[in-house]
Amino acid sequence: MTGTIVERVAAAVDADRLSRRHEALAAIGGLQPSGLSREAYTEADFEARRLVVSWAEARGYLAFIDPIGNMFFRRADDDRPEPPLVIGSHIDSQPAGGPYDGQFGVLAAWETVEALEDAGAEMRVPLEVAIWANEEGSRFQPTTMGSAVFAGRLPLEEALGSRDTQGRTVGQELSRLRPALSGVADRPLGFPIAAFLEAHIEQGPILERHGTPIGVVTSIQGLRWFTVEVTGSTGHAGTTPVADRRDAFVAATEMAAALRELMDDPGDTVRFTIGRFEVRPNAPNTIPGSVLFTIDFRHPDQEVLRRLGDQVEPICRARAGGCEVVVRETLDAPPTALDPAISRAISQAATALGIAQEEITSGATHDAKYLAMVCPTGMVFVPCRNGISHSVLEHVEPEQMTLGTRVLAGATARLLTDAQR
Ligand code: HGY
Ligand code: MN
Ligand code: MN
Repeated sequence: MTGTIVERVAAAVDADRLSRRHEALAAIGGLQPSGLSREAYTEADFEARRLVVSWAEARGYLAFIDPIGNMFFRRADDDRPEPPLVIGSHIDSQPAGGPYDGQFGVLAAWETVEALEDAGAEMRVPLEVAIWANEEGSRFQPTTMGSAVFAGRLPLEEALGSRDTQGRTVGQELSRLRPALSGVADRPLGFPIAAFLEAHIEQGPILERHGTPIGVVTSIQGLRWFTVEVTGSTGHAGTTPVADRRDAFVAATEMAAALRELMDDPGDTVRFTIGRFEVRPNAPNTIPGSVLFTIDFRHPDQEVLRRLGDQVEPICRARAGGCEVVVRETLDAPPTALDPAISRAISQAATALGIAQEEITSGATHDAKYLAMVCPTGMVFVPCRNGISHSVLEHVEPEQMTLGTRVLAGATARLLTDAQR
């Protein structure tokens, strides 16, 4: 095989192998006629992990798992002490998500390993593939849990204590599912990383609208998550005078309306979402005694995140009526710049391969946000149809996955080779 290392390794990316593996992984938790439901720390999540372990073992790679469930894959015969170059993403999904968000990055990372091996590339530093646990944070808050714990931004015990709506904790689910990965060795939490690269779908409309196949991600916007718990009194819907009610639904909906007013942005840059709104006891003829709702607030400017986010609690308190209200901030992640040198390696790989590219800011958050706090980090995006994600309609064309994988493989090869200097 002729050409530079970037060209040789990118050429070794096997589109059919990538596509077959995508089908196999997407089938685990797959929905009909489309979509994926594979939430973190479920049987489907661990079955998908097992499939990746089988690919790794077939290539002589060992698998490891850390105390929050992050997984790492490394050549069995590579015990060099240097910090590894790490590539990867996540395989957990939203409850009604798609088989590309996260999954594409894990598939592209593993195909990169295969291509490096097939091309006989010199890996001047160790290479590892990572599967970050619970990136979505839909079942167990917060989002990007595994990478936050790895980066020391979320205490392990706090993460293990996170509960789903059934009251189960991350720790209980991890213990219950761990035996499904019997051949996977334990690894302590945290280790130095030379650099991290993540391939991901854009989850927005920009690349597709511009007809650009590759996005070189320069930054990830900031986000703040809150939960709001409103507690009033249950009562009989037919007999209780309104004057005597402490109706948690009335208070919560007034809070939500006031928050939407606060977050109203004619420039359409603020992203404000109430995605979960639970009314209890949720019976038609009982006055709601409690309501829990979530807030997902995002913006690229730290000053706006601070100024508007700090008003959430006062606004909720001012509309509590006769109810109690508890506002908890469960995530406060500032806007994050990614590493220019890693972005350059990604951009140079796309250029070397003759693939059009553009710089882009990520509206979605990613594990790369936390990895960027502990090592040089970069991301490469591919377009997704109509910019749709976190939906069963999420779709990426196979050719787009192949192009994104070739760029990830080329950049990885470049960084592994550069490491010799
Ligand atoms: O919420 C996010 O931005 C990510 O897709 N989980
Ligand atoms: Mn994702
Ligand atoms: Mn997601």
